Amino acid sequence: MSEIKKIGLLTSGGDAPGMNAAIRSVVRTAKDHGIKVVGINRGYEGLLHGDIRELDGKDVSGIMNRGGTELYTARSEEMRTPEGVEKAANICRILQLDALVVIGGNGSLAGGLDLSKHGINIIGIPGTIDLDLDCSDYTIGFDTAVNTSLDAINKIRDTSCSHERCSVVEVMGRNAGFIALWTALSGGAEEVLVPEDPVDRNAVVEQILENRSNGKNHNLIVVAEGVGKSQELAEYIESTTGIQTRATILGHLQRGGTPTAKDRMAAGIMGYQAVKAIAEGKKNRIMIVKDGKYTDIDLAEGLAYKREYDDSLYKIIKILAI
Ligand code: F6P
Repeated sequence: MSEIKKIGLLTSGGDAPGMNAAIRSVVRTAKDHGIKVVGINRGYEGLLHGDIRELDGKDVSGIMNRGGTELYTARSEEMRTPEGVEKAANICRILQLDALVVIGGNGSLAGGLDLSKHGINIIGIPGTIDLDLDCSDYTIGFDTAVNTSLDAINKIRDTSCSHERCSVVEVMGRNAGFIALWTALSGGAEEVLVPEDPVDRNAVVEQILENRSNGKNHNLIVVAEGVGKSQELAEYIESTTGIQTRATILGHLQRGGTPTAKDRMAAGIMGYQAVKAIAEGKKNRIMIVKDGKYTDIDLAEGLAYKREYDDSLYKIIKILAI
């Protein structure tokens, strides 16, 4: 039995399919170690308002196949203030939490890092559809989101093909183009616009015209949310080429749905490893995937790590587009 008696657990920021599977994994692994779990509703908002409930093994039955998060989630403005962080740390102490497991993306784990500076042991599990936690090769929810986008694109392609139109499809990703790149490559798009290195709209038009002259009778352009202006781009394409163009913004559709096997696997393994790390006395870590292996790194170091934009997927998309 470990010396750790009680841990807190919350989900924060944008929800991601697989968060429930991660909650289940944390709770069940903790039970196996004789550790109590305090579930905190609505992320840091709930922590700041003492909105908690004890979670036992049976409380997480039948949730791993569901999208969303049973603990609810929120983006807390108060946690962005020093006073909010101090208050949250005090509540963790009052609740006698030996550690707090935070499931979320960059912003949520940054909030955790602030809390760790007040002596709270923070253990992060990357959960975001955007795949934009640079220290980890994988974040829970990404695979499901890409498959959802791809499913939508398959349907859009049917109608685009019938009407010989151009389709502009906007996918999520405020600061990162991973969903866009993966959807574009696996969906056969001719062009993709990502926030890291957006191409000029005239280059998009040129590509469409070139493909039409090569006998293509419909076109697909993927745009990441961070680039945005999909409707404007569609109007520009139509006015300059004469090709009927329609824009579709997939939006929050991509955040829902039953998690894929890959997301459930990542959630199951990372939840398990998070509790193991706590039981072994580790402090302030993020669970990550690196070079195909599940491991953990220092929270501050992980959050400080910035990955260079890699345009290799973009290059493949362009070669396959012709
Ligand atoms: O969680 C990531 C994400 O889905 C981003 O892709 C998107 O920009 C953002 O969240 C949307 O947030 P909200 O649900 O608050 O509108």
